[in-house]
Amino acid sequence: METVVSGIRSTGKLHLGNYYGAIRNFVQMQHEHNCYFFIADLHSLTTHPTPEDLYTNVRQVVVEYLAAGIDPDVATIYIQSDVPEVAELYLYLNMNAYLGELERATSFKDKVRANPDNINAGLLTYPVLMAADILLHRATKVPVGKDQEQHLEMTRTFANRFNRMYKTEYFAEPHAFSFGKNLIKIPGLDGKGKMGKSEGEANAVYLSDSPETIRKKVMRAVTDSGPTTPNQQKPEAIQNLFTLMEAVSSPDTLKHFDDLYNACEIRYGDFKKQLAEDMVAATEPVRAHIHEISNDNDYISKVIHQGNEKARESARKTIADVREIIGFRKF
Ligand code: TRP
Repeated sequence: METVVSGIRSTGKLHLGNYYGAIRNFVQMQHEHNCYFFIADLHSLTTHPTPEDLYTNVRQVVVEYLAAGIDPDVATIYIQSDVPEVAELYLYLNMNAYLGELERATSFKDKVRANPDNINAGLLTYPVLMAADILLHRATKVPVGKDQEQHLEMTRTFANRFNRMYKTEYFAEPHAFSFGKNLIKIPGLDGKGKMGKSEGEANAVYLSDSPETIRKKVMRAVTDSGPTTPNQQKPEAIQNLFTLMEAVSSPDTLKHFDDLYNACEIRYGDFKKQLAEDMVAATEPVRAHIHEISNDNDYISKVIHQGNEKARESARKTIADVREIIGFRKF
């Protein structure tokens, strides 16, 4: 039994990228490992949400974790900001995180490019806070999507640096984990890049989207005028739709449309209709629970209190050890 940690930034409703990259792995892992799943609300402060938005978004993520099948009696579900020990570990790790390596992180460079007016220190040290999340429970497995691989590499660097500096083996190396052979990258519907909220509302399919909304979004997804030579390579926008189909449809369905594409006989209308129906079916069990759980305030607050307590217990232990290792001793 290993310790598993993973979190999702609390930007509100979860999309299929969150679901296939993280949540589905959480649900499968919870019975085999010691799992901590949290809502990364401290990380979300880099974008300066209003207090109302912050609260609503955190609550929504809790609801969707539960709706997706994370069992709060088996796994520990908690809110990052309710465990202040993480901020302390973040501070310690920051002393050994170097400007050069932080500036070189792909996610930082992407954010700088996208928001040149808000390049704050929290954004720069985002990977350090993420390392603190993971090392706080001394986790070894971290179920995340492909886009987080570099952050995991940085976490290992920080852990090893700490160990070397204090001549200890306190932190084990955490590794990104996925049940499939590769870490998953779920593309968006706009024909380029990954599924994400910042890419615009129509780019992402949310777990809480109604079947009608899902159908509308998929039917509007970017395609082209169709293949002209047998077995030709698929352009990005088309490949993305096939990748989505690989996630939500059966292998037979995928093969059927792949064969049609290769024979230059595919009709994108039929292809998208099938993709939309399979997305509706894949999200149905989650969608069905979202409303019900969202209306149950008592249940949500019970789950959160219970999770926070368990998370703090583990966090307090690590912080006490780390303080001792660093040399903060009692007088
Ligand atoms: N950076 C992750 C994301 O954007 C969220 C995250 C924060 C996380 N801390 C973490 C994931 C710790 C795994 C472990 O998706």
